[in-house]
Amino acid sequence: MLLLRPAALVTLMRAAGRSGCVRDPPGGLHIPSLSSVRRCSAPPQPVIAAKQPFPVELKAGKKYAWCACGHSRSQPFCDGAHKKAAPGISPLRFTPEEDKTAWLCGCKRTRSPPYCDGTHKEEAVQSARLSAQP
Ligand code: FES
Repeated sequence: MLLLRPAALVTLMRAAGRSGCVRDPPGGLHIPSLSSVRRCSAPPQPVIAAKQPFPVELKAGKKYAWCACGHSRSQPFCDGAHKKAAPGISPLRFTPEEDKTAWLCGCKRTRSPPYCDGTHKEEAVQSARLSAQP
């Protein structure tokens, strides 16, 4: 049986108070004394909407919302699908300062969202199965 020092238990309970849930410690250790506390599920991860970027004509001053979760049916833009399919992921809102053609990320793995940075060329993206859209 695992015994937690009171200070450790207080730390876990405070963490639960902030986020509303707690994670089991690494290694899958289950803490029975926390069985009444809601456990966090894994954070949602974006799905790969496409294995290449989308060329888009952007207008200066217009507000856009780039889909960050990959579930939108209006790629590369948000259609609100994240609210049901990936509630922990929000679209990236941006407003271009000039008219331009941009390559917006479709794989949702770019390190410079919303723009493609070439990450889609990596094996992990190219070999991935595209999930069915909701
Ligand atoms: S499409 Fe995502 S990095 Fe290029």
